[in-house]
Amino acid sequence: MDIVDSPAELCAACERARRAGKRVGFVPTMGALHDGHLALVDEARRRADFVVVSIFVNPTQFGPSEDFSRYPRTFEADRARCEASGVDVVFAPAPAAMYVAGDETRVHVGETAAHLCGATRPGHFEGVCTVVAKLFALVGPSVAVFGRKDYQQFRVLSRMVEDLMLPVEVVGLATVREPDGLAMSSRNRYLSERDRARALGLARGLTRAVERFDAGERSAGKLRAVVLAEVEAIADAIDYVAVADAERVVPFADEAQIGERAVVAVAARLGATRLIDNVVLGEERGPLDEGARA
Ligand code: PAF
Repeated sequence: MDIVDSPAELCAACERARRAGKRVGFVPTMGALHDGHLALVDEARRRADFVVVSIFVNPTQFGPSEDFSRYPRTFEADRARCEASGVDVVFAPAPAAMYVAGDETRVHVGETAAHLCGATRPGHFEGVCTVVAKLFALVGPSVAVFGRKDYQQFRVLSRMVEDLMLPVEVVGLATVREPDGLAMSSRNRYLSERDRARALGLARGLTRAVERFDAGERSAGKLRAVVLAEVEAIADAIDYVAVADAERVVPFADEAQIGERAVVAVAARLGATRLIDNVVLGEERGPLDEGARA
């Protein structure tokens, strides 16, 4: 496995692989790798012959009061996990390599990025899209695998690839969960024992929504209310609980009836830790249902 920190070297390694007839698979990450990330790597390996993982804590997607400086940086452990998972190249650039002094261009995002995390983390998706567009430019034609725990990010990036005609196939992989149903996240390591136990309220709420949907409920407000009740019981603060259109992630009004597919998404704070989770009604099982967990 090669470890590369220069954008030009990454570009050259991917070009060489393609010239040798290989399909390139790409997993962008911010490190602090857990089994959810390794599932993305496995999926990339299934779909491609040459797998690149980027590890870069991207400053432009964090707000001024967010956890950029304390975001976990665990490069040695990440490197070992990538090596054990058969990754070909780890790209770990310095911030100055990705944001050259004096740069002034950013990716402008639209409606898909406007609500939920887009509304509660202003500038977040512009930062995500800008760094991912740069990474896609370096990696070139490829298949890129993202986790659907960040469902809105997956939709926003899919939209970006379509709108900017980038030569990348975007794949969204189902959320990987702990055996008890908690969605895997690099931020779970911030949780105290008490908050870790409370955090299951997110998965419980989403599971209740799936049960109600499967029983025929189509009122956006009623589906939202069952999630809200569970999340209010455990969270210190709630950024949002939303029932939204699964393509453009635009929330339904409580009075609306949803169709046969919609995303229910939640962002809540336990202590200083912000957790997100979601489920696509009409497509996925409840997080606490048998078979939905690791
Ligand atoms: O999902 C993440 O880890 C990040 O948002 C990403 C896609 C690597 C961009 O920095």
